Amino acid sequence: MSWIKKILLVLLIVFIAIQFIQPAQNKSVQVLPTDISKTITVPENVKMILQTACYDCHSNNTDYPWYNYVQPVAWILANHIKHGKRDLNFNEFGSYPVRKQQSKLKAIADQIKDGEMPLYSYTIIHYNARLSKEQKAIIIDWAQNAQDSLDKINP
Ligand code: HEC
Repeated sequence: MSWIKKILLVLLIVFIAIQFIQPAQNKSVQVLPTDISKTITVPENVKMILQTACYDCHSNNTDYPWYNYVQPVAWILANHIKHGKRDLNFNEFGSYPVRKQQSKLKAIADQIKDGEMPLYSYTIIHYNARLSKEQKAIIIDWAQNAQDSLDKINP
């Protein structure tokens, strides 16, 4: 066997071996009383966009297409979910102090304006998470209006 074939064989074995190490799944369909929709107004069109483009990393319920079971994709996603939820979890938004809710809404508008979210690496595979200009405007307007309403009760 040539050395190239040996290396390929080793890589193949490693690739197969890591498939058996699957991270715990982020799956819960329970609607918590702290859900963002129970805290501030979230129109249906906004909700649809957030669910499609953000909820995989910023909620307790990730939609797992088949490739998310393939390593190392599953590990990378699990890591994004861990950090994404720590910063912002739409299912737990209502448990944040109002001050934090205000700053998160501002962060949402800023992240979308800067094109930072959804993460670029994610949109390479998840085409449907790529936001159009109109979709971006819908989220930015909503986040700013929601922040303004909170600013009125908590300046
Ligand atoms: C593939 C996973 C993933 C997706 C999808 C995703 N995010 Fe994130 N998000 C993260 C991670 C990870 C962080 C933590 C910071 C970092 O690593 O950049 C983050 C951070 C943030 C923050 C920063 C919070 C703070 O306090 O500064 C906001 C706001 C945010 N995301 C909003 C969104 C919105 C809105 C969407 C949908 C349009 C979205 N994200 C989609 C993974 C994701």
